[in-house]
Amino acid sequence: MPRTFRYQIMDIIKKRWSPQAYSQELIARDDILALVEAASFAPSCRNGQPWRFLIADEPDTLEKMRQVLSPSNQRWANQAPVLILIAARKTFADSGEINEWHEFDTGTAWGFLALEAQQRGIITHAMGGFDPDKAIELFNISDLYEIITVVAVGRYGDKSKLIKKLQEREFPKSRKSVEELLL
Ligand SMILES: Cc1cc2nc3c(=O)[nH]c(=O)nc-3n(C[C@H](O)[C@H](O)[C@H](O)COP(=O)(O)O)c2cc1C
Repeated sequence: MPRTFRYQIMDIIKKRWSPQAYSQELIARDDILALVEAASFAPSCRNGQPWRFLIADEPDTLEKMRQVLSPSNQRWANQAPVLILIAARKTFADSGEINEWHEFDTGTAWGFLALEAQQRGIITHAMGGFDPDKAIELFNISDLYEIITVVAVGRYGDKSKLIKKLQEREFPKSRKSVEELLL
């Protein structure tokens, strides 16, 4: 089903989707850091800013980050020139209290990151299919943080290079209608 829009919503929201066909073209470090800055302007409970980003954009780190991904995600995400692990601090840095909103706020930040990327002609694809324990071990991540996702970042590549099964799901997904979302 193609995407349809009843209302005039922002163009970058309409155009963003999660492709699997990545070109190996490198992404400038400033572009990557701009995505992090966009994410940092997400609202968060008590302005706690629990989001943290581990950027893999050079061969050694990329190789390690790829090992963290599930085999099915590796089939396409290994082509991406950048993988960003997103983690969330579980406590407020100032008081040490549990931050019940760390996942919610970090999800908002990922949304901002994805839209800034879209604006720059950069594609993103978040993945829940990864091994958090492996990430903790390989990157020595403190238990202050919960690993939320790994995001593939890059530019759109050649869809025909994907295996057939992946090509079949390489399109922007449709959405439930607004009515279906109202409780
Ligand atoms: C938290 C999260 C986890 C996801 N995990 C995976 C994944 O492991 N593998 C994958 O191919 N896509 C994954 N996706 C992508 C979703 O399938 C995709 O966002 C959804 O189908 C809607 O499509 P769209 O982003 O193209 O609009 C994930 C997305 C999110 C936000």
